[in-house]
Amino acid sequence: MRISVIGCGYLGAVHAASMAQLGHEVVGVDVDEAKIASLAGGRAPFYEPGLPELLAEVGATGRLTFTTDMSAVTGAAVHFVCVGTPQTNGEFRADLRYVDAALTGLREHLRPGDVVAGKSTVPVGTAERLAPDLAAAGATLVWNPEFLREGFAVQDTLHPDRLVYGLPTDADGEPTARGREARAVLDQVYATPLAEGVPLVVTDYATAQLVKVAANSFLATKISFINAMAELCEATGADVTRLADAIGYDERIGRRFLNAGLGFGGGCLPKDIRAFMARAGELGVSDALTFLQEVDSVNMRRRVRLVDLAREVCDGSIVGKRVAVLGAAFKPESDDVRDSPALSVAAQMQLQGAHVTVTDPQAIDNARAKWPDLRFAPTALEAAQGADVVLLATEWSQYRDLDPEELGAVVAHRRMLDGRNVLVPAQWRAAGWTYRALGRP
Ligand code: UGA
Repeated sequence: MRISVIGCGYLGAVHAASMAQLGHEVVGVDVDEAKIASLAGGRAPFYEPGLPELLAEVGATGRLTFTTDMSAVTGAAVHFVCVGTPQTNGEFRADLRYVDAALTGLREHLRPGDVVAGKSTVPVGTAERLAPDLAAAGATLVWNPEFLREGFAVQDTLHPDRLVYGLPTDADGEPTARGREARAVLDQVYATPLAEGVPLVVTDYATAQLVKVAANSFLATKISFINAMAELCEATGADVTRLADAIGYDERIGRRFLNAGLGFGGGCLPKDIRAFMARAGELGVSDALTFLQEVDSVNMRRRVRLVDLAREVCDGSIVGKRVAVLGAAFKPESDDVRDSPALSVAAQMQLQGAHVTVTDPQAIDNARAKWPDLRFAPTALEAAQGADVVLLATEWSQYRDLDPEELGAVVAHRRMLDGRNVLVPAQWRAAGWTYRALGRP
């Protein structure tokens, strides 16, 4: 099939390459010339494991092209909209300007019978607002949310754990004739994963849009739940990692996404729960989501707590202290620093008078662009030179595997704050380190 992908960021670039891998002929479109030049040259414009290999593999087939020229979408049967929906400056609600611009640009190149598939995370009601204009051009809008995780984006796109189609429906809630036609087209797009048995949920627009934000809200809630338990553990001397193991054995609860620590960040969970709250307010049901305010607060408190802990181990003050922060990305296997807890802690400490040096295997350039006042070092050992305290803020395997003796040889004081609960405390204490963590004795 001929497919276009509008927006080639973390979501769109991977989606475009993956669709080509499935055998389709794909054109990726973006307004960012540097990004398109990089992708057209077969280079991933950001760090995503497996993407360079995938780009090389499908690049060789000639099935994948990239351009800034929207007219290149003409002739594609399906157009995937993958542009960002960031938080509006100074407000909770999602900023839909990129979605609207993409649709406006796309509209004049649509042909009757085309399918437009929305993948961006949008407030419920957006598809309903956009559909009539597309229908007037003879195209059908479907909502097809994406659940990929950065760091696993290629695998999640090629082998998703579910597919969701939100179709236009009639008064009885049944797909319209156009909806059924669009479904058949999507079934062709996803023929390979569907043949592999990937579950498919076919539903209406509203449900499909809600599925996405409900899933991210649940994940954020799970993380904040365990971080709230960490606060209890800190007050009682209990160990939140053992607590998580123990409750996680209950299959109804499950151990995944119960890792206590610095909490969630990134370009999705924080802004999605906020946009969801804003949308609920507009719909007159804000009470239904007031708990997300608490989820957000618990999450942000963890960052403050880690800074306080640093002050505690540095004898009451971090002013003038040398601090090494291990990690800048919002999570390992990513170079994304959007709302990164690690960077937020580093910046806070710098603002409070500490001399902070940050390291990260992949995200230093992005971090420096955001916080040029911080110092950066290429490795943990270099960042930790003469440090009064070391903070493990993003759990890259390089930092999990650090040797307490080797790191101990370069620091001024052996003080380790494990912001992700990934080190073995006994090992660090045996090497003479003061080891502290969030939610652990
Ligand atoms: C998230 C969702 O997991 C995806 O399913 C979704 O498609 C994506 O958002 C999106 O909306 O596009 P992602 O932002 O890549 O994916 O990252 P996650 O793996 O969910 O991690 C989010 C944050 O939670 C990270 O900062 C991570 O360190 C933190 N986290 C995760 C914890 O603090 N504890 C955990 O147990 C798990």
